[in-house]
Amino acid sequence: MSDIVLRWNAEIELPEAADTEALGVALAAQVRAGDLVVLSGPLGAGKTVLVRGLARGLGVTGPVTSPTFVIAREHRPAPGGAGVPLVHVDAYRLGGPDELDDLDLDTDLSDAVVAVEWGEGVAERLAERHVLVRLWRRPDDVRVASVERVGAA
Ligand SMILES: Nc1ncnc2c1ncn2[C@@H]1O[C@H](COP(=O)(O)OP(=O)(O)O)[C@@H](O)[C@H]1O
Ligand SMILES: [Mg+2]
Repeated sequence: MSDIVLRWNAEIELPEAADTEALGVALAAQVRAGDLVVLSGPLGAGKTVLVRGLARGLGVTGPVTSPTFVIAREHRPAPGGAGVPLVHVDAYRLGGPDELDDLDLDTDLSDAVVAVEWGEGVAERLAERHVLVRLWRRPDDVRVASVERVGAA
């Protein structure tokens, strides 16, 4: 089991995929219904791996996979979990943040934790309050993440 600690506004080293997943588990303890988590980073950065941890930490149903053929996946609360659904969105297929509201999901977004995988540089267009998780590779090839609250009062 990875011993990753979530430090806000700091560079967190993620040597193994298990560390990225563990960061997602740790983040699950910090978010609640209505929170938007934006995952920013290039393809293969580990965004889906982190959402997998978020799902595990929240205790929701269903496997987390790259939502390549659907725009969004809804994961319902499972027994023993936090009781909050998780909506996993692949924003590569969204035209813009406004389209989040037009997805016509069964889950009310204000009742769920919403995790959006976004392309590099596009997350900045989200003006609303959210948790921004950035994933990238340092020049020494070590994978790192930063977690920050954007637009918080
Ligand atoms: N430290 C790490 N963190 C995340 N993924 C890693 C790490 N090391 C290796 N990997 C691998 O890289 C891939 C990341 O894929 P994925 O999470 O789908 O990326 P994204 O959703 O950002 O495109 C996975 O196959 C994973 O096993
Ligand atoms: Mg992905």
